[in-house]
Amino acid sequence: MKETIKSKIVMAPLPVLIIGTYDAAGIPDAMNAAWGTQIGYEELTLLLDSGHKTTANIREKGQFTVAIGTVDTLVMCDYFGIVSGNKVADKIAQAGATAVKSGRVDAPVIEQFPLTMECEVIKIDDYKGDARITAKVVGVLADPEILNEHGKVDYSKLRPISFDSETNTYREIGAVVGRAFHDGTALK
Ligand SMILES: Cc1cc2nc3c(=O)[nH]c(=O)nc-3n(C[C@H](O)[C@H](O)[C@H](O)COP(=O)(O)O)c2cc1C
Repeated sequence: MKETIKSKIVMAPLPVLIIGTYDAAGIPDAMNAAWGTQIGYEELTLLLDSGHKTTANIREKGQFTVAIGTVDTLVMCDYFGIVSGNKVADKIAQAGATAVKSGRVDAPVIEQFPLTMECEVIKIDDYKGDARITAKVVGVLADPEILNEHGKVDYSKLRPISFDSETNTYREIGAVVGRAFHDGTALK
């Protein structure tokens, strides 16, 4: 018998996305976002509180980067989620990170992250004090070390992490357990 439990939404796994932006003065910022997802193969969406510096930067520039949080960058990811660029002069430097300007968008690429997507805003919907941002991914930058022999991202090498909102912890994405568009054929 199933129980009705006292829980918020559980849509596991939630991502750990690091949103990179520049402000009007060219100071880089980065924030941690779990409320975001891929929409098809070329676009993504984010839900960002309008009070964040990142949100103001995205409204100003219309461009940003999204890096994938990993086991190796976990401490930095969490820092980006608990300190605001509105309060710290240079959050990226404070975290011990380094950023270079993307070649495609006016936004920083944080060098410590092995996988980064370069994004252009399509639209921003304001709702309940948040910005619901839809963006097009115009480029993907990857360190060669995380690629397999076919040039595809290998999750075992990337070691992406997920935000567990039930326990406020980070988890590593685990092993391959099946083949998509394939294993279900056993029931056809
Ligand atoms: C695990 C985690 C997930 C988060 N996800 C979001 C999110 O999806 N949307 C959001 O608006 N804030 C989210 N935050 C909070 C922001 O990352 C945080 O307020 C940050 O300091 C904002 O930085 P900024 O003001 O420099 O942009 C998250 C924080 C953590 C630790």
